[in-house]
Amino acid sequence: MVYVSSRSSRWYALSLLVPILVLSQSILTTAQKHCQDPIVRKEWRTLSKSARLNYLDAVHCLLSTPPLTPLSAAPGIRSRYDDFVATHINQTLSIHFVGHFLPWHRWFTAVYETALREECSYEGAQPYWDWTLDTPADEFMESPVFDDRYGFGGNGALVPIDESDPNEVLGRTGGGCIEGGPFKDLVVRLGPLNGLGDNPRCLTRDLAPYYAARFLGRNQTELTLRQKDFGWFDRVLQGGQTFDASGIHDGGHYGVGGTYGVMADPFASPADPIFWMHHANVDRLWWSWQKQDLWERLWDISGPIFMQDYGNEKGGNTTLDYKLSLWSNAKDIVVSDVMDIQGGGLCYDYDELYESDRDMENSEDESQEMGFDW
Ligand SMILES: *[C@@H]1O[C@H](CO)[C@@H](O)[C@H](O)[C@H]1NC(C)=O
Ligand SMILES: *[C@@H]1O[C@H](CO)[C@@H](O)[C@H](O)[C@H]1NC(C)=O
Ligand SMILES: *[C@@H]1O[C@H](CO)[C@@H](O)[C@H](O)[C@H]1NC(C)=O
Repeated sequence: MVYVSSRSSRWYALSLLVPILVLSQSILTTAQKHCQDPIVRKEWRTLSKSARLNYLDAVHCLLSTPPLTPLSAAPGIRSRYDDFVATHINQTLSIHFVGHFLPWHRWFTAVYETALREECSYEGAQPYWDWTLDTPADEFMESPVFDDRYGFGGNGALVPIDESDPNEVLGRTGGGCIEGGPFKDLVVRLGPLNGLGDNPRCLTRDLAPYYAARFLGRNQTELTLRQKDFGWFDRVLQGGQTFDASGIHDGGHYGVGGTYGVMADPFASPADPIFWMHHANVDRLWWSWQKQDLWERLWDISGPIFMQDYGNEKGGNTTLDYKLSLWSNAKDIVVSDVMDIQGGGLCYDYDELYESDRDMENSEDESQEMGFDW
């Protein structure tokens, strides 16, 4: 068992301090020049009804716009939306449980947001889903995000668990095709898992309120925010390898996807349009953490290049010049291009960030209970 809060090692901070100081000054100046008027990402339920409908329309537009990716790379691709799903499928094994997990997904979400704006005349910013507002468990299913008219639709019908399935998410309630909402007739083509062929099927969800409340609540958010360096922040956010060791990232995927929902598919999860709402909030959590100490954290990056290689046995750590690729969706960039949401290649903001609770001291005991079995 590891006590996560006690691991911000001093040598680590020291070794990075000098390059951080030099770099942040030069890049901060460029950043300020290039992002004048950031678009502002807002929480779904604070948007007007017409703004919510505009967003959902733009998603439908991407779903019916022809793809850019050649069919030779992914024969099942039918739309611009699928370009993004295929990109995620292609890279799943190199973008999770690695140091560049957060930078890659920040870039992925921003490029998707740009596609909605530039190719589908959407005028707003990517909204986010603050799941802390939808816990405890008995409030989860009532989230405005699952609304049939002004949201993404809700659950699928209950599909009993296959006893041999090792991935039973505790308290799952669905698993079938979603039964209402704007994506009721959505045809998911790519996946499951790493399949890039055309495999048409419905969008499934398997909402798991108990699990969601366990890993998406204010307390888990606090635990994540309390980490002292990027390495630990990122590990607590991504969680370990069992459901009991989940972090916030899993919380959204399995809270919505349960066992049989598309969001629970580590490869094809972006096929559920809720994916972007979850990842925008994961990104907002990272930016909240960065903003708590921008001087130290704007350029703080670490964590393995290879999946789960936390002991650096297979390779080194992600660095600021590590290359990120989004296939045909965007040009290649490096991690330092996305460390600042108002610099490099990015220009957006959040209307509101998470702040650490004043009574953080009181919840300190709980964090010591958390076990991570990676
Ligand atoms: C991902 O796509 C690249 C470029 O098309 C290809 O070379 C690579 O083999 C793909 N990787 C996987 C795991 O599908
Ligand atoms: C947060 O609260 C939930 C629901 O009470 C609980 O299951 C979970 O263990 C708590 N997590 C932390 C980190 O305290
Ligand atoms: C990689 O990053 C972790 C923190 O995420 C750190 O503890 C470790 O020492 C780093 N390894 C190397 C080789 O720099």
